[in-house]
Amino acid sequence: MDIKSATFVISNTDVRKCPESSLPEYAFIGRSNVGKSSLINAITRKKQLAMTSQMPGKTLLINHFLINNEWHLVDLPGYGYARRSKDQRQELAKIIDSYIMMRKQLVNLFILVDIRHEPQAIDLEFINRMGEWGVPFSIVFTKHDKLSKSRADLNVEAYKKKLLEDWEELPPIFVTSSETKYGCSELLDYIEQLNKS
Ligand code: GTP
Ligand code: MG
Repeated sequence: MDIKSATFVISNTDVRKCPESSLPEYAFIGRSNVGKSSLINAITRKKQLAMTSQMPGKTLLINHFLINNEWHLVDLPGYGYARRSKDQRQELAKIIDSYIMMRKQLVNLFILVDIRHEPQAIDLEFINRMGEWGVPFSIVFTKHDKLSKSRADLNVEAYKKKLLEDWEELPPIFVTSSETKYGCSELLDYIEQLNKS
């Protein structure tokens, strides 16, 4: 899919205030700092569409972007940032969960995972919860440029093995880098395919 236009629509903390349109919607979720906002900029080829930071906890709102006047891309706050108070973390979790549970337009959730790390309990718990809720999701490995190809392949295989301990089949899996744009066109093609179905 070619990106002809990508514009910011609205930020808010309340799913009920999200755009009323019936356009299909795709959201990026994952731990703080995993690279959600960067990947939104990479796939839209707009360097500053979504705000990014080296410091975890940059995105704190539900951010809607309109792509090609046809669909919405949504940047969500990260989960699990340890250096926040328990109250703040619970508040963010509430925003994320209510968005995922209530947003009828949500076609697919992309759960981002840093390719460098072993499977983390917080991600596996989140993935399993999405499965229990029946939310369609895919897994997107980020920061592929930070590892050698062989190491990246090994880590992806280890992750799949871990997922198969809980799941009979694997969700769609993508491997990406916002730095090199590796895997970005595959992700967009997948969204295009879902938009058509
Ligand atoms: P929160 O909004 O805090 O939840 O973080 P986020 O998931 O939106 O992460 P963000 O996109 O802000 O990126 C966090 C840091 O990781 C930034 O310093 C990015 O430059 C870096 N980063 C993101 N993606 C990549 C990537 O593919 N490769 C490399 N090398 N760095 C990346
Ligand atoms: Mg962000």
